[in-house]
Amino acid sequence: MKINFEKNKELSDLTTFHLPAKASLFASFESVEQLRAITLTEEFLNNETYILGGGSNILFNGDYRGLILHCKIKGIKKYQKDETTIFAIAGAGENWSDFVEWTISEGLQGLENLSGIPGTVGAAPVQNVGAYGVEAGDLIHKVECFDLITRETITLSAKQCNFKYRDSIFKNEGKGRYVILRVSFKLNPTTQAGNLEYGPLKQLEERLGHKPSISEVAQEIIKIRNNKLPDPSKIGSAGSFFKNPVVRIFFYKEVMSSLWENIPYYETEDPYFVKIPAGWLIENAGLKGFSIGGAQVYPNQCLVIANTGGATAKDVMDVANHVRKKVLEKFGVSLYPEVNIVDSEIKVTILGSGTSKGVPEIGCYCPVCRSNDQRDKRTRCSALVETKGLKILIDISPDFREQALSAGITSLDAALITHTHYDHVGGFDDLRPLCVGRSFPVYLKKDVNDDLHKRLDYCFRDHLYPGVPSFEMHEIDEAPFMIKGVKITPISVLHGELPIVGFRIGDFAYITDAKIIPEEEKEKLKGLDVLVINGLRFKNHFAHLTVDEALVLIDELKPSRAYLTHFCHEIGRHCDFEKKLPEGVKACYDGMVIYSH
Ligand code: EPU
Repeated sequence: MKINFEKNKELSDLTTFHLPAKASLFASFESVEQLRAITLTEEFLNNETYILGGGSNILFNGDYRGLILHCKIKGIKKYQKDETTIFAIAGAGENWSDFVEWTISEGLQGLENLSGIPGTVGAAPVQNVGAYGVEAGDLIHKVECFDLITRETITLSAKQCNFKYRDSIFKNEGKGRYVILRVSFKLNPTTQAGNLEYGPLKQLEERLGHKPSISEVAQEIIKIRNNKLPDPSKIGSAGSFFKNPVVRIFFYKEVMSSLWENIPYYETEDPYFVKIPAGWLIENAGLKGFSIGGAQVYPNQCLVIANTGGATAKDVMDVANHVRKKVLEKFGVSLYPEVNIVDSEIKVTILGSGTSKGVPEIGCYCPVCRSNDQRDKRTRCSALVETKGLKILIDISPDFREQALSAGITSLDAALITHTHYDHVGGFDDLRPLCVGRSFPVYLKKDVNDDLHKRLDYCFRDHLYPGVPSFEMHEIDEAPFMIKGVKITPISVLHGELPIVGFRIGDFAYITDAKIIPEEEKEKLKGLDVLVINGLRFKNHFAHLTVDEALVLIDELKPSRAYLTHFCHEIGRHCDFEKKLPEGVKACYDGMVIYSH
């Protein structure tokens, strides 16, 4: 089967934000056979891939270095099981609004409140689209998908899709794995509207003097949307940019409501939490209409960031970051993007660059330990990796709390653990504020997991002390694994005699506490843009690479740039040490930021 791969494809017309960005490779598919054929090509096997539907909930933050697969599977049909059960089945590439209109013209109730939402049918299950009292997940019966790993077609039930508020399996473990082909909805064969809970719809009933029909509701919804949301044919946006934040009811009542009156809220399924409209927070932080370049907080609905003309992804990200900062400062609430941010760039923050005792060492008065240079103050090793909208921590050092405060970390998506030594895991308990309302995902080897279950036994008992942190431990081996669409490749190295792991993410790799890197693992470290690797000191050590040993390895692996880390005070003062390093190699210090493409 002939597949047409386009190079340097412009993406702006394929997303509702209309921001300029290119994909290095692009292919579309109209059937599962075409998709299967694509997965057998060199282009697929050698590139990172991203599956694009209607482009209504996505922000390409820069060009995409990889293969974009564009779903164009069409077709709508209905299947009547019995008098009260009708299934409407649509291809993932169908336009969502046209599909909803079709259900209304067929006299099927259920989706009318979701009229006028831009995007495709395939996007609806991904973010569990919701509006005006209804979520797609309430009506979805089954989702047919193609599994990019097994190359098989599978059907997921609504339960397996794990629908939550703007969330599903497709945004989590299924991201980058399941390509949605068709969605089946269970609808009711009646023209009487179903859900009139949303305020303005209740008023519609009063205004009309009768229970509205599905088409009357659809018309009303389109009117409301036109008043609040930008017209997609004129102004680019991706709908709500942020999710409505979920906060503890205690915080809402005792802190927020005592400072500000009339903050609206929605109840959630969990009685201890409420959801606050982010649009209200943004407006009341004084940001209505705030703009940078061509990006603006949309005045009629502050939850939307609009491309009012000529905006770049950077303008939008700058507005979004300003909004997050101001809302956090004023209300103490963190906002998280609802939009899928696709980023080929990797930002690495070296949170700690010191060995197990840190620098200065307690009780030492050497010139390094007495230095006033901030770069000579080294906390225990860890790093923060930011890519594709995710924040991933590598190792949880005993200094994590201080590191998180100085790096301004307010949220994390997951942690990767290299090994079980205290200086790499001693800060687990300090993740508590980031575990609120969820279990925090940690990726680690079995021996490390077993060890942590003993050390942190109070987190894993049957009867937990209230408030202890909750962790979701994922055991890894040498195989690459995915975290929400980001591929992570473990690199096995030896720390003395102890087998431990480093990690490769895209063209960036982080190795700490290595003494030996086996030959087969070196293969996994070829073609790197950035390598961060340990180089303890000049004098030999049984379990750590010395600076000279690390330099020999760097010479062999030939990354574009290399950074040494995990230093003890014997390395000397940073200002003297950095002069001893060859071109292309730098010394890490706490707070250092490295960008990798
Ligand atoms: N509000 C403000 N200022 C604003 C925006 C909202 O004060 O700029 C207040 C409103 O007055 C109201 C409350 O916030 O009291 C809620 O506003 P609204 O009903 O517009 O809903 P929302 O919570 O802001 C959510 C969805 C929208 C969906 C609407 C209607 C999310 C992230 N957004 O917005 O979905 O259309 O409810 O159901 O949940 C989308 O996902 O792209 C989207 C547009």
